Amino acid sequence: MKAMVLLLLAALSAAVAAEEPIQPIERPKNVNVAKVELGKQLFFDARLSKSGWISCNSCHNLSRGGTDNLVSSVGHGWAKGPINAPTVLNSSYNIVQFWDGRAADLKAQAGGPIANPGEMASTHELAVKVLQTIPGYVTSFEKVYGKGPVTIDHATDAIAEFERTLVTPDSRFDLWLKGDKHALTAQELAGYELFKVTGCVGCHNGPAVGGATLQRMGSFNPYVTANPSLGVAGLSGQSADRYRFKVPILRNIELTAPYFHDGAAKTLEEAVDTMVWVQLNRHFTPAGRDKIVAFLKTLTGKQPDFPIPQLPPSGPDTPAPQPFDP
Ligand code: HEC
Ligand code: HEC
Repeated sequence: MKAMVLLLLAALSAAVAAEEPIQPIERPKNVNVAKVELGKQLFFDARLSKSGWISCNSCHNLSRGGTDNLVSSVGHGWAKGPINAPTVLNSSYNIVQFWDGRAADLKAQAGGPIANPGEMASTHELAVKVLQTIPGYVTSFEKVYGKGPVTIDHATDAIAEFERTLVTPDSRFDLWLKGDKHALTAQELAGYELFKVTGCVGCHNGPAVGGATLQRMGSFNPYVTANPSLGVAGLSGQSADRYRFKVPILRNIELTAPYFHDGAAKTLEEAVDTMVWVQLNRHFTPAGRDKIVAFLKTLTGKQPDFPIPQLPPSGPDTPAPQPFDP
């Protein structure tokens, strides 16, 4: 009888959790461990850049919530990036990648920065040549993809597999969702209620609390920015797509300042005040805004935790890095 009641209670709380507009972050299933290890090395390997100095981790620093905490990133030759770097944490939950959604998935995305002159400034040919001349990599690629030359396709595939593991489960909010009613304070819970009733969940929903749709920045009131990015309109040329951006993931948001595509909001308080005005045509009281911010801070989950990957040494034919070549 007691077991029955417990079962019933468990089913009930599962049903309640299912009704919430936000679901817990889950660890990925069926990852290919050898591929993940290779992708992890590539993510940290600056030899994929022309300078030999910039890796994916330079801008998506896994010690800093998967971002660089800069208004816009620093690329090859100290180039100023055009837009704020989003986090790579939980990016597998994004329906499309990049602020304007121009990459279909993580694999398609990963080829971009390597060959972007303002980022890693290499070419896919050069990156492949570098990998092909590092004996340790040749062995690892063969282990995962079988005999044959290293290809950029395999390299980006391995990076994407590693990125699938960059999830942050077990935040206090997720513990609450899973039934631990003491996981949140009264203020944090009130913040979540306000997040729902005010309408933030209309766009920031699902496991990642974002990443599921592309929406206009400035639904009610215009967002004023000096950043020239037009969002989706930059691709489609349609005026209806002006300032349409992928709704950012709000998981780990306290770690990833500054905020917005232009990096203009220095604090979470500022970002929340802007959002409620431009997207919902309302203002929060300072106490209301603090509740929302308190709730948002409960979305910080367990960060990736692994030994720093050791990278195989270069071979005699590995092209030399060109840090000072323009
Ligand atoms: C010089 C800094 C820099 C480097 C190096 C860099 N990125 Fe990025 N990354 C960015 C910026 C800036 C954006 C946003 C660009 C845009 O949306 O137009 C971005 C976007 C992304 C996204 C999309 C996230 C989202 O929410 O849309 C992923 C995933 C990503 N990068 C992974 C990588 C990987 C993998 C590498 C290494 C192969 C890498 N990045 C190298 C700065 C960098
Ligand atoms: C109509 C859809 C929509 C609604 C409603 C909405 N947002 Fe957003 N939110 C977005 C978009 C789109 C962006 C990215 C805008 C940009 O960078 O220009 C964003 C960005 C953010 C950011 C910054 C994220 C980052 O990584 O830079 C925060 C924080 C945020 N929203 C919180 C909220 C809160 C709190 C509410 C409710 C008061 C809310 N949002 C309501 C669509 C929405």
